[in-house]
Amino acid sequence: MIAQLDAIHQDAQAAIEDACDEAALEEFRIRFLGKKGALTQAASGMRDVSKEDKPAVGQKLNEVRQALTGFVEARSAQLLALKDAEAAKGIDVTLPGRRPQQAALHPLTQVMHRGISALRQMGFTLAAGPEVETEFHCFDALNTPEDHPARNEKDTFYFADGHLLRTHTSSVQVRTMETTKPPVRIIAPGSAYRRDEIDSTHLSVFSQMEGLYVAEDVSLGDLKGTLERLFRAIFGPKTPVRFRPHFFPFTEPSFEIDIKLQPKGQDPRWIEIAGCGMVDPNVFRQICESRGDDVYDPDKVTGFAFGLGLERLAMIMWGIPDIRLLIENDQRFLRQFASA
Ligand code: PHE
Repeated sequence: MIAQLDAIHQDAQAAIEDACDEAALEEFRIRFLGKKGALTQAASGMRDVSKEDKPAVGQKLNEVRQALTGFVEARSAQLLALKDAEAAKGIDVTLPGRRPQQAALHPLTQVMHRGISALRQMGFTLAAGPEVETEFHCFDALNTPEDHPARNEKDTFYFADGHLLRTHTSSVQVRTMETTKPPVRIIAPGSAYRRDEIDSTHLSVFSQMEGLYVAEDVSLGDLKGTLERLFRAIFGPKTPVRFRPHFFPFTEPSFEIDIKLQPKGQDPRWIEIAGCGMVDPNVFRQICESRGDDVYDPDKVTGFAFGLGLERLAMIMWGIPDIRLLIENDQRFLRQFASA
């Protein structure tokens, strides 16, 4: 029986060489180690082995079984390695890895967040309104007469039914006061639309941020303090801010705000950055009429409003020379703002 086992061992050693895929290996396993395999059959011969030979034959049987099991395991590992090597063909593992792309906020979103966060600290909350507006909310309620140039067909996108694309976010002032009692303290970032020729400083769709604060005794000092604080939060605590008299139909008095900045390699200069003013009593009167109550009676409440262009803010902040860069989505441009 020892000789028989040796023969099986030898056969197996030769046969394993031919097991060149998984199916052949499985065949090998069945042929030698399976229930009806050569080794199992040989083992059944143990019955007839004499008592004194049994230990030696038993040991031999175990050795051969171990050897054959070892053949299968080694071959199986070899075949797996071969398969991996095949799959990896054409992959150069010495090449450097690909750096994952770093996501980042668009520069416009970044300036918007800075503005919002500064104003939230002063108690302002977010408000919104529709971009397709009525003439009433965009103009009439804001004390803007029928013949005002902003209402011209040449300057404003009108729909056939008389609606329009809002030319400023100031319409959100009206919508907020229509639905909310004073005190109100809101900011409304959003899109505005004008029929402007597109060039390096104009887009027909752009972003504004509106602010409105109405309560008892809101003063011009509050307006000044709030906006100085806003612009110093964005441009640095020592930034000079000045208020220049101006005109808007819905505020009286009205101002344009300039900040003094030193663009790289240039002399410091004043740059216009926002419009603002004390809410015109006519606006409050119109709101009272719309609401049918007197909570916005101009003898009881006062307020200030301001509006600024976010593209302009971003251009000033980063020295961006052309407003169109902000909407072209050219990654070579945008990537520069990724770490901010
Ligand atoms: N709506 C004005 C504009 O678009 C800005 C502004 C808002 C001015 C609020 C005064 C008060 O130019």
